[in-house]
Amino acid sequence: MNVSRDLKLPHRFGAYMLFDRIGQGGMAEIFLARRATELGGGKLLVVKLILPVYAERAEFAEMLADEAKLAATLTHPNVVQIVDLGREEERLFIAMEYVEGFDLAALLKRCSKEKVPLPPEFALHIVLELLAGLDYAGKKKIVHRDVSPSNVLVSFDGEVKLCDFGIARANDAIESPTEAIKGKAGYMSPEHARGEALDARADVFAAGIILWELLAGRKLYRADAGDLIEQARTANVPDLAPRGLPNEEALFAIVKKALAPNRDERFASAGDFRRELHEWAISAKLVANPIKLGEWLTEHFGAELLAQRRARETAAKALDPSPQPARAIIESPHIKYKEEKSPESLSPIDVSPPSKSPPPTKEKSPPWTMIALGVVAIAVVAWLLVHR
Ligand SMILES: Nc1ncnc2c1ncn2[C@@H]1O[C@H](COP(=O)(O)OP(=O)(O)O)[C@@H](O)[C@H]1O
Ligand SMILES: [Mg+2]
Repeated sequence: MNVSRDLKLPHRFGAYMLFDRIGQGGMAEIFLARRATELGGGKLLVVKLILPVYAERAEFAEMLADEAKLAATLTHPNVVQIVDLGREEERLFIAMEYVEGFDLAALLKRCSKEKVPLPPEFALHIVLELLAGLDYAGKKKIVHRDVSPSNVLVSFDGEVKLCDFGIARANDAIESPTEAIKGKAGYMSPEHARGEALDARADVFAAGIILWELLAGRKLYRADAGDLIEQARTANVPDLAPRGLPNEEALFAIVKKALAPNRDERFASAGDFRRELHEWAISAKLVANPIKLGEWLTEHFGAELLAQRRARETAAKALDPSPQPARAIIESPHIKYKEEKSPESLSPIDVSPPSKSPPPTKEKSPPWTMIALGVVAIAVVAWLLVHR
């Protein structure tokens, strides 16, 4: 019963004009939108429409609204900002900032498809940023409950933001296991899998799984290895294989502590986890920053960004008469590549093993610069010879 799958776009939805469908989860559909005011307003937003089957259930809808209200109070660079909550056409919706890039699940899929390993300094950076967002929420006693790669958004300018705050609790309250619940079992803490009350340490565990997977280059719990919830309950975490990182036993000890099955043995907060991981990253000289991550993403996946942006521009142009959304995308400061380059030239494939991949280097000067300098030098020499 998914009414809006047939939603014809663009679609006026209350104060918003939905013009592109960008995601579909277990409970909701995700649209790119802009304000439906006369002049539009250039800023793109994401509108998440909860599927009618959920919004119709009064108890669930109330819980969802309460949680989303709480989530809307979060303002932090590592948390997707909610800007509006409401009910329209009998549907609950959440409007939020648009993060242009990939979610971490999509990014990892592309990395493996293109054989571009994610360098360890960026893996660490993503987890450190995620932990900063979780620490902030944790201090407000807000537990995310569904920390997983698809809820970690990585923008093309290297920002990392956690999304999907505030609906997991309502989801947990549904008696029958839905696709959504099954989908997130891969990152569940053992206490969550046992159905116990959760605190911030459940999010610490999930972030620990993400770090483990980024270091291992594979999933921790696999559907083909049996029931995911059962695996989460047991929390049998294999030791990580050596990768040749500096002082990596210390790193592996941090991962192990985050993944302690007994939450009393875990880091007490995402902040504690972050502090130790950050100290290790400094000692190992594996500290990255958003600029470097953004450059790396653009270097390897710029062509896909361009294709995604063009498709969204086209959808935005269907919004008559204001051309603003298209401009908003084109003029975004996130563009770091030259649009006239052919897509092929934007994705060099780096097949070196992750532990040995070199830090991102600056783009080499194009050869024509050297040629131009050579021509000028010859001209100067010739002039000197003639005028001697
Ligand atoms: N604010 C956003 N900006 C960009 N992409 C988003 C945003 N919110 C969600 N998405 C994309 O849509 C997907 C599903 O959104 P999410 O809020 O996680 O819904 P669900 O509850 O279905 O998991 C995300 O994994 C991400 O790829
Ligand atoms: Mg999600």
